[in-house]
Amino acid sequence: MSMQLWIGARIATMAEGGAPYGFIDDGALVVEAGRIAWVGPRAELPAHYASGAQVHDVQGALITPGLIDCHTHLVWGGDRAREFELRLQGASYEDIAKAGGGIVSTVKATRAADEASLLAQAQRRLDALLAEGVTTIEIKSGYGLSEEAEAKCLRVARTLGQRNRLDVRTTFLGAHALPPEFAGRADDYIAEVVRMLPRLHEQGLVDAVDAFCERIGFSVDQTRRVFETARALGLPVKLHAEQLSDSAGTQLAASFDALSADHLEWLSEEGVRAMAKAGTVAVLLPGAYYFIRETRLPPVALLREHGVPMAVSTDCNPGTSPCTSLLLMLNMACTLFRLTPEEALAGVTRHAARALGLPDRGVLAAGLRADFALWDVEHPAQLAYAFGARPCRGAFVQGQAR
Ligand code: NIG
Ligand code: FE
Repeated sequence: MSMQLWIGARIATMAEGGAPYGFIDDGALVVEAGRIAWVGPRAELPAHYASGAQVHDVQGALITPGLIDCHTHLVWGGDRAREFELRLQGASYEDIAKAGGGIVSTVKATRAADEASLLAQAQRRLDALLAEGVTTIEIKSGYGLSEEAEAKCLRVARTLGQRNRLDVRTTFLGAHALPPEFAGRADDYIAEVVRMLPRLHEQGLVDAVDAFCERIGFSVDQTRRVFETARALGLPVKLHAEQLSDSAGTQLAASFDALSADHLEWLSEEGVRAMAKAGTVAVLLPGAYYFIRETRLPPVALLREHGVPMAVSTDCNPGTSPCTSLLLMLNMACTLFRLTPEEALAGVTRHAARALGLPDRGVLAAGLRADFALWDVEHPAQLAYAFGARPCRGAFVQGQAR
């Protein structure tokens, strides 16, 4: 494909260390063979790029890296609106889980659904994210909880990646909840997860491994067994950690060089230090915090102080965050967690890429993937400021329009 030159743009490269947002007022972006060949102020554009390229004048639009939603459970059957009603009558998220509702009710509906209907439902959710400039998404399993049903969900995730112009990264979350047939036998179920993982990996279905380390999930010891299996297979790990209580799962995750620890409302300073040392990203999920009416905030100031990169994601799932707007999460990360708009945008670009172990994206810089979004806004802070706005004008993945 020929060389493409984008001009007339304000560009938020999100590169670190320079201007806020890596902002360029009158920028130019050169794309060749799916990669960024050059990006910078238009006045400095080398002459050979100006002559050989097909030129697109975006007339003042903002260009950012394509957005990355680094924590979703996009594939599930059924819904949990009834549970929402129960919670409004006073039941807590944990009460419902203990009474056999919650995640397990979604597991039943997901097992019963065929692949085509799971695909259709997930596609609708994905469409909303695509319309907001998302170019990479992570999708977890975890509502199948048997080898067959986990494989089904992971295949749906892979199919979404083939049918849409975006990159899908899959995460195996077999250790999400105890399936009913293993009631009272959590260790046996973990042994089953450990058996499943290599077989799913062999089918090319797994890019990373996650677990839910929590009172209503799995213990640190059980999580460790899953992580050891991941390590033996060379797969990176992530963890749902310290969402409802401090189980010190984050320290375990850091000891396995986890890509990320996610949620983190109850994270301790010791956990923050362990993350800083291991280079583990903190994935903040304001949608879940909001939807289950958490009152304890993740320790943002401590994370900042220790230089732990913060990502932001939808956590799109039926129980705690039935949300398909990453832009709304930018706004909530600022209003609820007090991130700056620049931190929030870094959280869905540069830091989200790192939370997925993808150094080839998340920033607009020469040599990286030409994944970018065009916005009808003047300044990048507007992306976090407005909610319910639909500012995305289009998105490009490896230089190709969607
Ligand atoms: O990220 N915490 C565990 N998993 C999901 C919720 C799953 C559910 O309730 O269905 C989360 O919040
Ligand atoms: Fe989650």
